[in-house]
Amino acid sequence: MNEPITMQLNGTTISWSGSPQRRLLDLLRDDLGLQSVREGCGVGMCGACTVQVDGQAISSCLLLTGQVAGRQVRTIEGIGTPESLHPVQQAFIDHAAFQCGYCTPGFILTVEALLREIPAADEATIREYLSGNLCRCGSYNNILAAVKALQSGNYSPLG
Ligand code: FES
Ligand code: FES
Repeated sequence: MNEPITMQLNGTTISWSGSPQRRLLDLLRDDLGLQSVREGCGVGMCGACTVQVDGQAISSCLLLTGQVAGRQVRTIEGIGTPESLHPVQQAFIDHAAFQCGYCTPGFILTVEALLREIPAADEATIREYLSGNLCRCGSYNNILAAVKALQSGNYSPLG
């Protein structure tokens, strides 16, 4: 019998008793129904499964549930609301920074982390920071434009 594991998920404490060897991606998507956490490659190469753990963007396909015990996990459901979008979400819409949207939750979580960690990142740094997130639709230039608009203060405050 596995001991219960507890984490903070989008500001709410949750506990579960599954195997600590289970991938965080599977817990979030299959058990908790957070379909925004998507599986692409399954091996840490595409960023579709990106979540934030203690504020850092990370691939949930590479994390085991036992590794997030006691930590804060955030998915796109923890950023903004349908009535009040987060500035990063609004900037993505305004700059058409997606087409099919499959990669978008992961990109938004990574961009939000970037703007907190390196608010004045130059273009090369932005591209490097986002290099773990792939977009099969090729929205990279529009995503870059959204990030630059956010940096310019058009969408402040970032919260
Ligand atoms: S599914 Fe996790 S990085 Fe691709
Ligand atoms: S918008 Fe389709 S994969 Fe990025």
